Amino acid sequence: MKNPVKQVTVSHVEMKGIVKAFPGVLACNHIDFDVKGGEVHSLLGENGAGKSTLMKMLYGMLRPDEGTICIDGRDLSFHSPADAIRAGIGMIHQHFMLVPTMTVAQNVALGQPSSRGAFLDLDVVSERIRALSEEYCLRVDPDDLVAHLSVGEQQRVEIIKALYLGASIIILDEPTAVLTPQEVDDLFGVLRNLVAEGHGLVFISHKLHEVTSLSTRVSVLRDGHFMGTRDADCLDRDELVRMMVGRELKEIVPRESSAGEEKLTVHDLHVYGDRGTEVVAGVSFDLHAGEILGIAGVAGNGQRELAEALIGVRPVTAGKIVLDGIEITDEKLNKRIDHGVAMIPEERMQDGAIKDFTVQENVFLHDHADAAFRSGIFLRFRKMEAHARRLVEDFKVKTPSLETPIRNLSGGNIQKVIMARELSRKPRVLIASQPTRGVDIGASEYIRERLLVQRDNGTAILLISEDLDELFSLSDRIAVMYEGRIMAISKRDETTVQYLGLLMAGLTPPEEAVPVGPGCE
Ligand SMILES: Nc1ncnc2c1ncn2[C@@H]1O[C@H](COP(=O)(O)OP(=O)(O)OP(=O)(O)O)[C@@H](O)[C@H]1O
Ligand SMILES: [Mg+2]
Repeated sequence: MKNPVKQVTVSHVEMKGIVKAFPGVLACNHIDFDVKGGEVHSLLGENGAGKSTLMKMLYGMLRPDEGTICIDGRDLSFHSPADAIRAGIGMIHQHFMLVPTMTVAQNVALGQPSSRGAFLDLDVVSERIRALSEEYCLRVDPDDLVAHLSVGEQQRVEIIKALYLGASIIILDEPTAVLTPQEVDDLFGVLRNLVAEGHGLVFISHKLHEVTSLSTRVSVLRDGHFMGTRDADCLDRDELVRMMVGRELKEIVPRESSAGEEKLTVHDLHVYGDRGTEVVAGVSFDLHAGEILGIAGVAGNGQRELAEALIGVRPVTAGKIVLDGIEITDEKLNKRIDHGVAMIPEERMQDGAIKDFTVQENVFLHDHADAAFRSGIFLRFRKMEAHARRLVEDFKVKTPSLETPIRNLSGGNIQKVIMARELSRKPRVLIASQPTRGVDIGASEYIRERLLVQRDNGTAILLISEDLDELFSLSDRIAVMYEGRIMAISKRDETTVQYLGLLMAGLTPPEEAVPVGPGCE
C-alpha cells in the first residue's frame, strides 16, 4: 500500500456569520471568511483581534456559537480536529505538537489508522514522507529524531504530517514568528509549491512584508469584527495598517541618547548550552546607563544563553558579570532582580508568565514582597489591584478582567503584561529578548517607544533582536553575535545594515564595506 491516506481535494471552504464569545469578550462577531484551493488568504489584525479563535473553529478545536462552515457546498460541523482533518483541513500551530523522543516517521504515524492493527506501518509511512518531501521540496528525513531537529525542521515535519493526513487546506498561525530569516525564505518556497499544487492556505502573520509578498487575498479583523478583504494586486500598506489599527502609525525616528556611567560589564563570558557544548565563547561588552546596546544575530548563535546567564538562570563556566561595580557572576536570579536587573524573555509563556495565574498575579510575580504593597504581614490588595489596573490601562492590555488567567490572553497581550511588569519595576538594567516578536504592529510601536523612554530615564538596555530594522531604530550601539562570539560593536550611525548582515552570516566583509568612524570598535 503506497498511499495509506486518501488525499482529499477541497476547493472552497466558507465560514459564514461566525460568532464566538468567551467570558467578557466577543472574540468573533459575525465573521465571514473563505479560502479556495490554489490561493493564500492571509489574516491580519492586532493582538486579540480574533484570528486564532476563528481558525481554531475551522480546525474543530473550538465550536462556533453561531454560524456555519461549508466545504465545497456542504454544511459541516466539527466536534474535534479529527473531524476537520477528515474534511481536508490541516493546521500548523505556533507551538509544535511533536514528541521529541520519537523519530519523524513515528511522529507522523502517531494516531494513524494502521493496516497492521496496533503496529505502525513505519516503512510505509517513511516511504510516503520521502515522496511528500520530494514533491514539495520539504527537506525532512523520516529517520531523524525530532529532538535533534531545528525549529524550522520541526515545522516542516508538521507540514508533512498535515499533508500525510490529506490536508487540502492548511492553516498556518504565525508560522514565521519562530523562524530565522533564512528559514522564512525556505518556508515561503514550500508554501508556494503547495499553492502551485492546488492547496489553499490561510496565513497569519504580524509582518506586513510577509503578508504582501505571499498572499492572493488579505482580510483584516479588528476587535472581533471583519474589516474587509483586499486582493493582492491592490494592497496598500498604509490602508492595511489603518484597517488593523484604526490610525496611522508613527515612525520611530532614532534619537540621540546621553549615555551615563557604566552599569553592566561582561568580561570574557563562557556559557554552555543544553547540549553540553559551549555556546557563549568569550563575550565581553559594557553597557551604560541611558543606553541601548543591540545584539544582532541569527537565532541560535548564543544570544538566548547569554541572556539567561545575565539574568542568572544559566550557570557561567568562566568569565565575569559586574553590575554597578559589584560582581554578580554567581548571584542567584532573585538577588539580581533585587539589584535591579529585569528581563523580557524570549519564551514568554515558559519563562515570563505563569499560565494559570491571573493577569494581576502575573503583574506581581516578583513584587508581592515589596514594602509598597504590604502592611506588616498583610498584602494591600486594594493597592495591588490599583497598580495592576493602571499597568493594564497604560499598556493597553486587552483582557476581560484582572482576574482572567493569563493563558486566555492572546500572545501579544501576554507580552504586554510582562513588559508592563518589568518596566514598572524601574530596572537599572533591562535585558529585552525579541521584545516585539509575535506582537502586532500597533503594540510593537508602543513597546519600542517605551524602551526609548526607559532608556531616556537612565535604564541600561540590552536589546536582543533578529530584526535589523528594530535594532537600527532603537540601539545606540549594535553588536553582532555569531557562533557564541561578538564579531564587532559599532555605533548605530557608523555602521550599515549590509555590513551587519554579512557579519550575521559569519562572513568577513570586504574591506570597502567596513564602515569607518571614530566609534567603531
Ligand atoms: N480560551 C479562551 N478563553 C477566554 N478568552 C479567550 C480564549 N481564547 C481567546 N480568548 C480571547 O479572545 C480574543 C481573541 O483572541 P485570539 O487569540 O483569537 O486573538 P489573535 O487575533 O489570534 O491575537 P494574537 O495576534 O495576539 O495571536 C482575545 O481577547 C482573547 O483574550
Ligand atoms: Mg493568535
